[in-house]
Amino acid sequence: MILLAVIGCNLFFVQGPPAPAQPALADPSPAAACRGCHGEIYNSFVHTAHYLDSRPADTSSVRGSFQEGHNSFQYNPFMRVTMTREGDHLLQTATINGEVVRTADFDITIGSGRKGQSYLYWQDSSLYQLPVSYYRASDQWCNSPGFPKYFFFGRAITPNCLECHTTFARAGLTPSGKFSFDRGSLQYGITCERCHTGGQAHAAYQAAHPQETTARFVTNAAKLNRQQRMDGCALCHSGFRTAIQPPFSFQVGDTLAHFSQGKAISRQADTLDVHGNQYGLLAASKCFLGSAEMDCSTCHNVHRDEFNRADLFSAKCQSCHNGKDNPVCSLPDKERGSVHLGDNCIDCHMPVRASKKIMLNVGSGDKLLPDYIRTHFISIYPEATANFLKQGAGKRQ
Ligand code: HEC
Ligand code: HEC
Ligand code: HEC
Ligand code: HEC
Ligand code: HEC
Ligand code: HEC
Ligand code: HEC
Repeated sequence: MILLAVIGCNLFFVQGPPAPAQPALADPSPAAACRGCHGEIYNSFVHTAHYLDSRPADTSSVRGSFQEGHNSFQYNPFMRVTMTREGDHLLQTATINGEVVRTADFDITIGSGRKGQSYLYWQDSSLYQLPVSYYRASDQWCNSPGFPKYFFFGRAITPNCLECHTTFARAGLTPSGKFSFDRGSLQYGITCERCHTGGQAHAAYQAAHPQETTARFVTNAAKLNRQQRMDGCALCHSGFRTAIQPPFSFQVGDTLAHFSQGKAISRQADTLDVHGNQYGLLAASKCFLGSAEMDCSTCHNVHRDEFNRADLFSAKCQSCHNGKDNPVCSLPDKERGSVHLGDNCIDCHMPVRASKKIMLNVGSGDKLLPDYIRTHFISIYPEATANFLKQGAGKRQ
């Protein structure tokens, strides 16, 4: 089967700020430093997409297949990239009419694989994106997001990419003006101290004062105001932003608008790509506007893997929409049929929507596979309702 990517997963490339300076968050602790005293949180956290979001590239992190027959991607009639394993090395080898023109290692995996993965390779102290990525919806290799219809190995990784996809990386510029990273400083995954500023000083203090039961030095977002709480997530969950300050300088508790500018808050923020804008969409929703305290943690516990738990999220809806504080669902009984609404509020009010940007062309070119994202503009969607009732009724037959 020939895989021909028409548009690719999407454009991940972001413009970096001109000159990265020494960031405020230097050498954060790894999650393991918190394990001794916060074992329960640690044990569930290591299964989350945040923790697994970036890793060294090896056979356990790379999800695409290296098996003959499934291990290549045809960029165009002449250009092909083949994924192979040689000893400890995973490689992408590019050929033109069968002649090898370039080989590079998979060094870093970006993406837990929930939706897809991209891969980076080191060249001296700079990082570049490999031409072939992995696309979860079809469990296949695909062209890297935003790449043209031919492969190349020269797309440099900006510090912004790592700011959203790692806990820390010390960034600088090479004498020739390319982005560079201190390899030893790189901390994979989005771990505790990324959201809990001061974790290191806190861990040291609490260890030295074991009888102390109140926490010192560490930020707990729950104790900040709503904008600060939202900003802690919006750093990465409001789509691409225009930087004002160097990457990694924002810390939870700061005002994000002083560090970078995002897109306007509106339902138009539904840009539909793997880089969804949950912040902009939620902030435009009536639920958010009508309640003073709602934030991302109203529904999400980021210490746990809660992916695909419609029941759990629906219980959160009903904690507000209980008929006392806020109205319950007004979908008329006769339209509900036999469907029990309580199990799943989200497929009608926060439907999964197909991206128009992300499409793969499989085989002869008539079947397009879009990527899907869950809108955070909570509203009434007649079409999603019709679909849900059709499927729900089907399930119950
Ligand atoms: C030596 C033990 C110890 C270590 C190590 C430790 N903590 Fe704590 N932590 C505590 C204690 C004690 C408290 C206060 C009681 C509680 O909330 O559990 C606390 C509370 C917290 C709080 C809540 C703070 C608040 O104001 O509500 C956060 C957040 C936190 N820790 C994060 C971390 C992170 C992140 C790490 C790793 C970098 C870490 N802790 C390592 C002992 C520790
Ligand atoms: C440093 C960047 C960063 C910050 C800060 C951040 N996230 Fe994420 N988040 C990501 C990335 C990257 C992914 C995609 C992970 C993957 O699948 O590889 C993600 C995925 C998620 C997911 C989907 C995964 C799942 O398990 O369902 C949720 C939900 C989420 N984040 C919520 C939050 C919330 C809530 C906050 C704030 C408390 C937050 N994030 C802060 C970068 C971040
Ligand atoms: C502004 C922050 C930000 C930047 C910059 C960014 N990403 Fe992301 N990326 C995210 C977040 C957040 C998600 C999860 C979004 C969601 O599920 O809605 C994500 C998702 C992904 C995924 C899919 C992961 C999965 O399995 O769900 C890949 C692959 C990815 N990004 C690669 C990249 C690469 C490569 C770059 C840089 C060239 C980049 N991203 C730049 C924040 C960012
Ligand atoms: C993506 C951001 C993020 C990451 C990563 C993260 N936390 Fe949290 N954490 C939060 C938020 C947000 C809250 C406040 C939740 C609320 O509003 O109730 C919190 C609350 C806490 C608390 C206070 C008590 C509690 O249970 O709510 C502790 C302790 C804590 N985190 C420890 C950790 C440890 C240890 C890790 C790593 C193993 C970690 N966190 C990783 C965002 C994060
Ligand atoms: C923190 C409380 C809270 C939570 C949690 C909450 N909502 Fe709401 N919701 C509200 C408020 C307040 C309004 C506005 C009511 C009004 O304007 O009369 C609202 C409005 C709505 C509306 C009407 C929207 C429109 O465009 O007319 C729908 C539908 C809705 N919520 C569904 C949900 C669903 C589904 C969930 C769970 C995914 C949810 N809500 C979670 C508080 C909440
Ligand atoms: C009213 C409840 C609610 C609130 C508030 C909320 N979310 Fe979600 N979120 C959901 C539900 C429901 C899903 C779908 C979960 C699933 O399919 O497993 C989801 C999924 C996600 C995903 C995965 C998206 C995807 O397409 O796979 C991310 C990322 C995310 N939320 C981030 C956030 C951030 C950041 C905030 C705050 C700006 C936030 N959420 C606030 C209910 C909420
Ligand atoms: C089968 C799809 C579907 C499901 C499931 C569903 N809703 Fe609705 N909901 C609708 C539709 C359609 C409307 C608009 C009905 C009307 O008034 O014409 C609506 C209206 C609402 C409203 C607006 C009420 C008002 O008085 O303005 C709220 C709030 C709401 N739903 C919450 C929920 C919650 C909470 C759940 C889960 C317990 C839920 N819905 C489950 C389709 C659904």
